[in-house]
Amino acid sequence: MTNKKPISLTGIQPSGTIHLGNYLGAIKPAILRQDTYSCIYFIADLHALTTVRDAKIIKTAMYDLVATWVTCGLDYEKHILFKQSDVPIVTELAWYLGCVTGLGFIEKAHAAKDAKEKNKEISFGTFAYPVLMAADILLYDADIVPVGKDQKQHVEMARDMAGSFNHAYKADIIKLPEPKIEEQTMIVPGLDGRKMSKSYGNIIPLFSSEKELRKKVLSIATDSTPLEDPKTMEGTLLGKIFQALATKEEYADLEKRLQKGGLGWGHAKEELAQIIHKQVGHLYEPYLELRKNEKKLDEILALGAKKANTIAQNVIDKVRVAVGTR
Ligand code: ADP
Ligand code: TRP
Repeated sequence: MTNKKPISLTGIQPSGTIHLGNYLGAIKPAILRQDTYSCIYFIADLHALTTVRDAKIIKTAMYDLVATWVTCGLDYEKHILFKQSDVPIVTELAWYLGCVTGLGFIEKAHAAKDAKEKNKEISFGTFAYPVLMAADILLYDADIVPVGKDQKQHVEMARDMAGSFNHAYKADIIKLPEPKIEEQTMIVPGLDGRKMSKSYGNIIPLFSSEKELRKKVLSIATDSTPLEDPKTMEGTLLGKIFQALATKEEYADLEKRLQKGGLGWGHAKEELAQIIHKQVGHLYEPYLELRKNEKKLDEILALGAKKANTIAQNVIDKVRVAVGTR
């Protein structure tokens, strides 16, 4: 990896099954940046501890993610793929950032704000989540951070924290990153119409057999308009999911045929399943093959940890000098 290219950095939590929202919103755009960026992608296991209290789930989902990134095309030799907790100084940087961040600022983060409005108790970890996320981003001098729209606020907060730090220590020590949102697939809706999310049980998994995929897609709720009647996908859940997963042309083509009548919702769903299968079906077998080989996955992580620690050390050295701990 050369140091000349700008750095693209993102993390995904090992907290459940990887779905098409993760793939289209985060993984695919991140993979496509490999030629123009130095990529640093990691598995955010420390962040996952804010919601998952089961070591087995964390560990399984962590390996799932390593296998996912590599199967989806991440060149882990040229770039960096690592596990967040393998670079423990990230928590040190989070502390330094926390010390220049006001309470009112942190309270504006989605999770904290939501908890306050609902009068819900949250853990310190959930409250401090954006600070750790800022440390993830700033520890590696990231230039861009490809995330889905739901994470945009956190990246903007990281930018603000970098600014506060530089202001507090009167020097340009930490680089300011940019969020990078994929406009076209900003939020992929789930099977129930809410954002597709591991935590809502509404996902279409990225890796599944054609049969499982078809079953999921056929479960999308549609109305009972008779087969022969003209219909429109516009404004329907199926339409929204179709729009997020298919090309504009595929959408327009199906919409035209539906409007003519004689085509049922079942047909439309079959087409959607085929479109998804065409996009990601070929990844399923290679994924299963690599996922079985945990020794290989450990080797990939060890290589990533070594490279990530080297970069992080450079940044933390400057920060330590600035704050006076070194
Ligand atoms: P989840 O909501 O399933 O727990 P995460 O919060 O772990 O997903 O998100 C991992 C990455 O995938 C983030 O960059 C996030 O923005 C992106 N992402 C998650 N769900 C979606 C979605 N439905 N549409 C687009 N991007 C998504
Ligand atoms: N918060 C992100 C999510 O839930 C995961 C994450 C942790 C992340 N640290 C990050 C994403 C740094 C981008 C950059 O999806």
